[in-house]
Amino acid sequence: MDEQLLAHRTVVEVTDLTKTFDGGRVTALDRVSLSVPEGQMTVIIGLSGSGKSTLLRHVNGMHQPTSGNVKVLGRHVVGMGHKELRAIRREIGFVFQSFNIVGRLSCIENVLSGALGRLRGPRYGVLSYPKSMRQEALSQLERVGLADRAFQRTDTLSGGQQQRVAIARTLMQKPRIVLADEPVASLDPEISGQVMDVLFRSCVEDNITVLCSLHQVDLALGWANRLIGLRDGAVVLDTPVDTSLDTDRVMEVYRRLDPTGVKRSEYEVPAVQE
Ligand SMILES: Nc1ncnc2c1ncn2[C@@H]1O[C@H](COP(=O)(O)OP(=O)(O)O)[C@@H](O)[C@H]1O
Ligand SMILES: [Mg+2]
Repeated sequence: MDEQLLAHRTVVEVTDLTKTFDGGRVTALDRVSLSVPEGQMTVIIGLSGSGKSTLLRHVNGMHQPTSGNVKVLGRHVVGMGHKELRAIRREIGFVFQSFNIVGRLSCIENVLSGALGRLRGPRYGVLSYPKSMRQEALSQLERVGLADRAFQRTDTLSGGQQQRVAIARTLMQKPRIVLADEPVASLDPEISGQVMDVLFRSCVEDNITVLCSLHQVDLALGWANRLIGLRDGAVVLDTPVDTSLDTDRVMEVYRRLDPTGVKRSEYEVPAVQE
């Protein structure tokens, strides 16, 4: 085990995870083993179809594996009952490529809805939340640089701003882990950097463990503490990101697996919406 893993507690541990679909015709994950250290950003990189979403869905129990094990915060997720799953999902925030915010609601109300798991019963409107939570929601919006938009309809914001609202909502849940499935895939490169910065700061400031999937090597190298490469459902790269790791070295791994280079350009150009 390397030094980085020893220095940090492991919060997600995946062992020999295989997932097949369609009666075994499609292998989405192929004996995947990996560890995710606490309070860091681990990035899963891989092309469309390499198994990134399937892997993230196993971490919060949305998928059951064909074989293998998934341990989250010391608990086995495989075979968990509804009650246990609900409890563990309160510790896990999810950020989607498509934001999943409610456009007709104000930003602050979207952020407040992240706290619903901490409250009893439904809420209608900003004023139905306790004052302390409204203050908390405002400070989350401030962290993502959108305090001045609190009462604006969320669908009037740009894509990057909407994703920052979605992240503020996830942080409002007070999760220990944030799973982000291609959170910047539909954003342009400059805006992508702002969104990755917000995610990265949540690791540092709140000791949240972020597990984020991305298409682009450059963006991954810019933000990840640890990089895991998937290809056709198998782990082909698993390394801490330090100064010796550059785009060429990462690309080298993929070139070895893709000698004809047909898929190479997909790693280098900004991703398009799937
Ligand atoms: N529900 C499903 N039914 C059948 N095949 C699936 C399902 N989900 C994913 N797959 C297949 O598993 C593979 C990995 O998919 P996915 O995890 O979505 O990859 P990524 O997120 O990296 O694009 C793909 O071949 C995909 O078609
Ligand atoms: Mg996906």
